[in-house]
Amino acid sequence: LAMPVVDPALEERLVERLARIEEMLADHCKGRAQFVSEAATHLMMAGGKRFRPLLVLLAAEAGPHPDADAVDTAACVVELTHVASLYHDDVMDEASLRRGAHTANARWDNNVAILTGDFLFGRSSELTAELGPEAVLIQARTFTRLVEGQIMETVPPGPGEDPLEHYLDVVAGKTGSLIATSARYGAMFSGARPEVVEALSSYGEIVGSAFQLTDDILDIASESDTSGKTPGTDLREGVPTLPVLMAQASTDPADARLLSLLGRPLVDDAEHAEALELLRRHPAIDQARGHVLAEAARAKKLLEALDPGPVRTALESFADIVATRTS
Ligand code: FPP
Ligand code: MG
Ligand code: MG
Repeated sequence: LAMPVVDPALEERLVERLARIEEMLADHCKGRAQFVSEAATHLMMAGGKRFRPLLVLLAAEAGPHPDADAVDTAACVVELTHVASLYHDDVMDEASLRRGAHTANARWDNNVAILTGDFLFGRSSELTAELGPEAVLIQARTFTRLVEGQIMETVPPGPGEDPLEHYLDVVAGKTGSLIATSARYGAMFSGARPEVVEALSSYGEIVGSAFQLTDDILDIASESDTSGKTPGTDLREGVPTLPVLMAQASTDPADARLLSLLGRPLVDDAEHAEALELLRRHPAIDQARGHVLAEAARAKKLLEALDPGPVRTALESFADIVATRTS
C-alpha cells in the first residue's frame, strides 16, 4: 500500500514515527519465556502493511496538539490487537499460510496459536491502560465488535435478512471496527474537536470495510501475478464475497448456470474455472467496484469536518488508494 502523502515533510515525519512504532511492536512481542517471544514475533514480524498504525498517525495530524507518546502507543495497541486477531483467525480458517509464511497453527499447533493471540491481546491491553480509562473503554468496545463480526461470519443470515446486509455487517464488525478505532485514537490524542474525532472514526470504519471489499473483488478480478494470490480462492472455498452476493441477487435467467455454481465450495477444477470466468464477465464485478467507489466518496465527504490542507488531502488519497488498489 503506497504512502498517501503529498507533503514531503509530512512523509518524512510519518516514516520516522513508523520506525519507532516498529521497535515498540518488537518489544511488546517479548515474553518471559523464549518460546513465547518466538511465537509472538513470528507473525508480527512477517511483514504486515501497518495500515492501522499509519492511519493512527495520519489522523493524529488532524488535531492541534498531538501527544506523540500517546499516539505511538495507540498505534501499537491497534496493531497488536490486529495481529492477535490474525492468530485466532488462522485457527478458525484453518489457514496454513499468511504473508508468505507458515501460520502459527501450521508451524506449531492450534493451542500455541490461540494462546499467542491471547498473549498479544494481553500486551495490547497493558498498553491501552497507559492511555487511560476512555481508551480502555474504546478498546473493549472494539474487541466486542471484532468478536461479534467474526462470530456472525460463521452463521448464515437470519430468516428475512438480506444476505448482502448481513455480509456488510460482518465486514464492518470484523474489519471496520478496529480501523475506526485507529482513526479515533489518532484524532483523540491530538486534541481534535469532538466532531472531528467522530468524523475520522466514521471515515476509518468506511475505509476499513472498503479495504476488505476490494480484497473480495481482487479475488475474482485479478491475475495472480499482480495480486500475489491465487485467483478465486474465496470462490473455491464457497466464502461469500461482495461480487458473489451481488451476482446471487440476479433474477436474469441467463445467470442460471452461474447461480447453480455459486454458494458452495467448488472442489472440481473445471467448475471452479467456469464460475470464475462467468463472474469475471458479470456486471456484478462493476457493481461491486461501484459500491466500493461510492463508499470511498462517502468517507471523503466526512473529511469536510477537517480544515483543508496536506493532512486532509493525504486522508482523501488514502481512501482512493484503498478503493482502487490492485494488489
Ligand atoms: C481476518 O479476516 C480476520 C479479522 C479481520 C478479524 C478476526 C477477529 C477475531 C479472531 C476476534 C478477535 C480476537 C482477538 C484476540 C483480538 P479474513 O479471514 O477474512 O481475512 P484473511 O484473508 O486475512 O485471513
Ligand atoms: Mg482468514
Ligand atoms: Mg476469517
